[in-house]
Amino acid sequence: MNELNVVVDSAKAAFEQASTPAALENAKAMFLGKSGRITELMKGMAALPVDEKKSRGAAINIAKQAIEAALNGRRQALADAELQVQLQAEALDVTLPGRQRGQGGLHPVSLTLERIEAIFGSMGFDVAEGPEIEADWFNFTALNTPEDHPARSMHDTFYVEGGYLLRTHTSPVQVRHAVQHVKKHRALIDSGGAMPEIRVIVPGRTYRVDSDATHSPMFHQCEGLWIGENMSFKDLKVVFTDFCRTFFENDDLVLRFRPSFFPFTEPSAEIDIQFPSGPLAGRWLEVAGSGQVHPNVVRNMGLDPEKYIGFAFGMGPDRLTMLRYGVNDLRLFFDGDIRFLSQFQ
Ligand code: FA5
Ligand code: MG
Repeated sequence: MNELNVVVDSAKAAFEQASTPAALENAKAMFLGKSGRITELMKGMAALPVDEKKSRGAAINIAKQAIEAALNGRRQALADAELQVQLQAEALDVTLPGRQRGQGGLHPVSLTLERIEAIFGSMGFDVAEGPEIEADWFNFTALNTPEDHPARSMHDTFYVEGGYLLRTHTSPVQVRHAVQHVKKHRALIDSGGAMPEIRVIVPGRTYRVDSDATHSPMFHQCEGLWIGENMSFKDLKVVFTDFCRTFFENDDLVLRFRPSFFPFTEPSAEIDIQFPSGPLAGRWLEVAGSGQVHPNVVRNMGLDPEKYIGFAFGMGPDRLTMLRYGVNDLRLFFDGDIRFLSQFQ
């Protein structure tokens, strides 16, 4: 084998041995670099006679081209291998389940509030709101609650600075809303005209120092108020019975108006419901307090209790949600556990 073939073969072997691009560049320098074998051979030609130079030069060139071809081949092979490794690392398994964007939804109690608003809306009730940080006047005094009433105690009510408190029920909005309504129709009322009836519900958050499976320190209430000139307890019974039967989609639901006491209503009644069948059948379940609005409260609304009469009720949407979906611990609603909440979507 001639000398040039040996050089070409050893170049090919060196390239083959190089397992990284950097090692390959080092191997290249040994043959094609400034002091590489081929360069040395070229320099060696200087001493040859002119007629030999030509053929020697051509032979060296052929060897050089063979080495360059081997070099390029190896470069390509290394690049291919690298790509292969990369592809494997970034392999996409199209059979894996896709990543999904979490889908939000309404809280079960919000679903109940929407339902309440829709049902009372269909009966001509407006929706009003009031502040959660409330003045003592609206939460207690305007509602005919005596100074020494136990609900006013620190054990029951969260007080905040400046004589304010976290409202313990939505009833303060009865007076707030009525006062606005009366203000709007003052001229008409003073001239003895017929004031448009007050017919409103007030959904919202309420707070009490309370915590067990059926009492949460933050809970929801929805107030109802209907004031006019010719109202009677019968109207309360009809409206609330209609509401409950529609809410629970059960025309056989039985209601009981159980005599009770609230400072702001007289007479007063707790409203209990009973399902005719199903897991809750046979039990009376309290869903609301109610009554005919007390004359002192009507007066605080700016109206003459001799002329205006009406009824009010306050229900617990959290309890209604528990009954509707068969949930037995109220606190689950407010723990924020997505596994529980997503069942209502
Ligand atoms: C009241 O709060 C009266 N304001 C209701 C009322 C309005 C009477 C208008 C007359 C006229 P009571 O304290 O019973 O009443 O609460 C009403 C409802 O709120 C209860 O039936 C219950 O469903 C719910 N509730 C009361 N406390 C809690 C609590 N800590 N957690 C969850 N729900 C509660
Ligand atoms: Mg009660």
